[in-house]
Amino acid sequence: MKAEILKMLKERQGFVSGQELSDGLGVSRTAVWKAVNQLKAEGWQIEAVRSQGYRLLGEADVMTSSELATMLDTDWLGKRLAYYDETDSTNVQARKLAESGAPHGTLVAADCQTAGKGRRGRSWSSPKGTGIWMSILLRPAFSPVCASMLTLVAGMAVARGIEEACGLHPLIKWPNDLVIDGKKICGILTEMSTEDEEIRYVVIGIGINVNNEEFPPEIRDKATSLRLELGRSVRRSPVIAETARAFEEYYGIFCRSCDMSGLRQMYDGLLVNRGRQVCVLDPKGSYEGQALGIDDQGSLLVEREDGRVSHVISGEVSVRGIYGYV
Ligand code: BTN
Repeated sequence: MKAEILKMLKERQGFVSGQELSDGLGVSRTAVWKAVNQLKAEGWQIEAVRSQGYRLLGEADVMTSSELATMLDTDWLGKRLAYYDETDSTNVQARKLAESGAPHGTLVAADCQTAGKGRRGRSWSSPKGTGIWMSILLRPAFSPVCASMLTLVAGMAVARGIEEACGLHPLIKWPNDLVIDGKKICGILTEMSTEDEEIRYVVIGIGINVNNEEFPPEIRDKATSLRLELGRSVRRSPVIAETARAFEEYYGIFCRSCDMSGLRQMYDGLLVNRGRQVCVLDPKGSYEGQALGIDDQGSLLVEREDGRVSHVISGEVSVRGIYGYV
């Protein structure tokens, strides 16, 4: 009911009477009053005037399941929503939900993670109220070999989500770090469970630095946030909603071919490494070359000095700019 009240208040510029809310929702005026008080406790500024009703004053950066449910405008992503004020890791929770039968498209989000996971066993700093810490549960019918490309699809969706919600233009450091001005704004961790060469489920974990004003010393030089880039705070729910909408669109395109052929041109347009000298940290021997773009399988094409083009597979090696992180 809170989500419905919030929606009605957002849709109306002025006051909505208590009677209209209670008639519209088929509940008592006392129930409306209680729900409005809960919304206020969550951080919404709602004015109540006896003869006129309720009015929303400005939009706060509130992250609750009602706020997310009101903002999401998707066909299947986030129809099942799990929101936590605090959890260990949204990826861990998404995996638990998957094991207990949660459907394709389940969206898990948290205001704070106490044990956020990064790639390569690293931790992911996820303080309260600052960022978007969320995971998408998918149950695709395609082969497990295609799943690593979903991180690229997710990276594109976040880039578009940020652009639509706040006008910044992040680029992608292959395969799936998002950067603004050479600093990391988003990381993606994809995990998969398989059985008999089939995917049981995939969890795509997305961490976006939104209102962070500082970072732990070890990442201070190479991390940034939307707030630091824009010089103002940013509401997280519209970024989630736009990212979810873009993910649905790009996932649909991906599923037509189960490769990056339909998205490759757009991905290459977002690739920060494109045309740059990169160092490929291959355990069999590092080498340098120029990044050209990706192939249909999502591998990075790197042209070496002798003209040979290597197809660098994500997960096996990491790629660095020769002068720094990008
Ligand atoms: C990286 O190392 O770049 C990947 C970071 C992924 C962080 C996100 S935050 C939401 C989800 N839950 C986690 O524990 N990790 C991912």
